[in-house]
Amino acid sequence: MPDVKTLAVIGSGQMGGGIAQIAATSGINAIAYDAHQGSLDKAKKLHEKLMARAVEKGRMEQADADAALGRITYTTKWDDMAGADWVVEAAVENAEVKADIFTKLAQTFDRDDVVLATNTSSISITQIAASAEVARAGAGQRVIGMHFFNPVPVMKLVEVINGLATSPEVTQRTIDLSKQMGKEPHAANDRAGFISNRVLMPMINEAFYAWMEGVAEPEDIDAIMRLGMAHPMGPLRLADFIGLDTCVFIMDVLAEGLNNDRYRACPLLKQLVTAGRLGDKTGRGVFDYSK
Ligand code: 3HC
Repeated sequence: MPDVKTLAVIGSGQMGGGIAQIAATSGINAIAYDAHQGSLDKAKKLHEKLMARAVEKGRMEQADADAALGRITYTTKWDDMAGADWVVEAAVENAEVKADIFTKLAQTFDRDDVVLATNTSSISITQIAASAEVARAGAGQRVIGMHFFNPVPVMKLVEVINGLATSPEVTQRTIDLSKQMGKEPHAANDRAGFISNRVLMPMINEAFYAWMEGVAEPEDIDAIMRLGMAHPMGPLRLADFIGLDTCVFIMDVLAEGLNNDRYRACPLLKQLVTAGRLGDKTGRGVFDYSK
């Protein structure tokens, strides 16, 4: 199969913006789609800032940075993506929203060589693929999990998750594309949370329980895991970085999908979400970033 020439990314938030960026720096044309122009403007500004920083630090030549930025187009028009030969969905972590998107994708991309990937962190690939299959017979074979990690330009991993209908050829092409984008792909099966969040989120949740029970202060919990386990960020800082609402969502998916209450989100974590303290995205979560 030829290398991917044009990749469309649906959703220009933290993850989608990063995916478009590394596609472009890997020589692939990227179409960044979002329903909201504001998200596209924010993504464009971040792309320009990060490329300028890479040039400043000698990691990229100015000409290469300019060429990469020139490969990214930003659009609020769904039909502008029609020419893409690969799609990565990186929209909100909501099963209904993803079902609608994959229904539309199956209708828009009728060529059976266009892979319809999702960056979902925990929603069943099989479930997402079923929506595509209903919209167009056979489309389910082209649906696969292509799970990137935040911040996308920095984190090497792509977790590749096969749904029950995913064809082996699509799996191989996803592995090849991940490598073409400078990433290291590793496979997981389609169980709630896959491997990354099945292992990471319960650890983060446990840190909230330790805090709630007064075992240690947040700063000490994080320092113990940073200094003792060489984690680049402590679990509570990482929760703020990911978003506390996303953490609760993933824990709920684990509890539901694995049919086990031990994955229920810690009451203190849920209380912070109720209070609107979502972490980096609201300027306050476990820690206060407003100063
Ligand atoms: N976007 C792009 N690049 C970024 C970035 C961002 N948001 N944040 C940092 N970087 C880059 C910086 O440009 C810097 O590179 P440079 O100085 O050479 O230009 C490099 O990363 C290091 O950044 P900093 O010096 O600012 O700070 P740190 O050394 O502390 O690194 C970090 C920041 C890379 C975020 C590091 O703390 C880290 O790796 N944290 C763990 C992140 C993690 O675990 N991610 C996975 C979360 S789980 C997930 O995403 C799955 C989802 O499904 C929930």
